[in-house]
Amino acid sequence: MSEIGFGIDIGGSGIKGAPVDLSTGELLAERVRISTPQPSTPVAVAETVAQLVNQFGADAATLPIGITMPCVVSNGITRSAANIDHEWINHPAAETFAAALRKEVTLVNDADAAGIAETYYGAAQGQLGLVILTTLGTGIGSAMIYDGVLIPNSELGHLEIGGRQAEKRAAASVRTKKNLSWKAYTRRLQRYYSTLEFLFSPDLFVVGGGISRDSEKYLPYLELNTPIIPAQLRNQAGIVGAAWYAFHLQGSARTQS
Ligand code: BGC
Repeated sequence: MSEIGFGIDIGGSGIKGAPVDLSTGELLAERVRISTPQPSTPVAVAETVAQLVNQFGADAATLPIGITMPCVVSNGITRSAANIDHEWINHPAAETFAAALRKEVTLVNDADAAGIAETYYGAAQGQLGLVILTTLGTGIGSAMIYDGVLIPNSELGHLEIGGRQAEKRAAASVRTKKNLSWKAYTRRLQRYYSTLEFLFSPDLFVVGGGISRDSEKYLPYLELNTPIIPAQLRNQAGIVGAAWYAFHLQGSARTQS
């Protein structure tokens, strides 16, 4: 039986999706991107997701569909909304998407999806022990994976360091907004990763998000005992992880993280 899932990655600016071959982690068709509607309310986002799936024809709707959200997700309910419309807080998101798509969907936090994708197909393949993946983007997302098993909704971007949430100081968006030099930004990352290292003693850090393209500008300058490496799947990680989740969890007792 072919292992194919359909992954959709919902972000503050774009909604991206594609079918994924889960035996390789490769996209089976070029991904489609539609701008996230503004305001990014549940109804508007769900309509956009349905439009996106329709662009792949009738077959796409027969695949297990997984959707990432930049929110805490538990049992199909989105519990937080740091960088998306506040209507998502305590919203029955899986139901809203299921109504728009007329089928069951699997929801997963965006960083958790990226963590799963990097574990099975990317930078953390075969890594035992604790992997912490962080995505540096508009905010900071995190995934904790122990011996290949995800511990969902870790939300380490909201860790308070020196009285401020880490993502308010060290997200990639902060570097751009404040026009920080790479050196100044690296100092902020140093504080963040040193704190994570002290608290969790991971075996590997993986750094994802758009900024992983520029990893040579900051990763070599971080002083840590833990190896720290860039993510490999770049902007496909969310799609691939969402498809993996849907394929492996739909129909099981745990349908959502
Ligand atoms: C949210 C996380 C999300 C991350 C990256 C944070 O602000 O709280 O749930 O994973 O941004 O999008």
